[in-house]
Amino acid sequence: LLATAVPGLAQDYPTKPITLIVPFAAGGPTDVVARIVGEHMSRTLGQQIVVENVAGAGGTTGTTRTAQAAPDGYTIMMGHMGTHGAAPALYPNLKYDPTKDFEPIGMAAGTPILIVARKDLPPKDLKEFVAYAKQQNDKLNEAHAGIGSVSHSTCVMLNVQLGIKPTAVPYKGTGPALNDLVAGQVDFMCDQIVNLVEQIKAGSIKAYAVATPDRSPALPDVPTTKEAGLPEYQVSAWNALFAPKATPDSITAKLNAALVKALTDENTKKRLLDLGGVLPDEKGRTREALKTFVASEVARWTPVLKSAGVTAQ
Ligand code: MLT
Repeated sequence: LLATAVPGLAQDYPTKPITLIVPFAAGGPTDVVARIVGEHMSRTLGQQIVVENVAGAGGTTGTTRTAQAAPDGYTIMMGHMGTHGAAPALYPNLKYDPTKDFEPIGMAAGTPILIVARKDLPPKDLKEFVAYAKQQNDKLNEAHAGIGSVSHSTCVMLNVQLGIKPTAVPYKGTGPALNDLVAGQVDFMCDQIVNLVEQIKAGSIKAYAVATPDRSPALPDVPTTKEAGLPEYQVSAWNALFAPKATPDSITAKLNAALVKALTDENTKKRLLDLGGVLPDEKGRTREALKTFVASEVARWTPVLKSAGVTAQ
């Protein structure tokens, strides 16, 4: 047989729609980033990219599903700082190893973390929030997207620093958590900027601070944690594409090229930047860079979370 006559060969890839697993609920930060880059990538690849939300267990359900999928390029995922950085420290029986069970495709966007609250929570700034949180402690409700998610892990960091133990309210993603924050049913959360910009601008939630060294151009009025009096709280998340281990190199190279093209497209770039996303520089867009970064993230988060004494059941 001539190679060109055989369907399904890596060089013909893709010949059918690609499933992009988002391990959280629709409408949240991972879903939003996935749909923005996926839309442009599908044009480059000439095939539909179908987002499938496989939520549960802080993102580890969808991530496990991806790790166990056929390594043929037709199932990929949008992973993040939680699924590929924090989860190993929190799930003793995790069925995947972020550093071994995936072929990295590339970084999609950095997502600074903000401390946000329902709009009628009494504290008007971060200093007041810190005092209030210490006084209210477990009376305060913290929304998060399940153990090991970004919102959970980054608030573990905050809670340890403040010495508080708020009551956790888990969701299948911070999309639905944000709806409840807007409705005033939960008090606060630590979340990725891409989920928050519109609601902060609309005044339907309160933003106390962004946990990065500089303010976000997408939210120029929101102070940094350093400006607002909590300089030790510095944390940022990220979202990146991964394929199952053993996906052919030529396929992940094609997917990486399509991702890079999406990130250089003016419209796609603007959509991500308007939401406060931080785009990787040229070096940070490679598959190799993501591989090294994932290992460094697991190493960074493991001691932070282990010393906090949190584990999933
Ligand atoms: C989501 O898309 O819901 C988030 O990325 C959840 C999280 O990790 O906090």
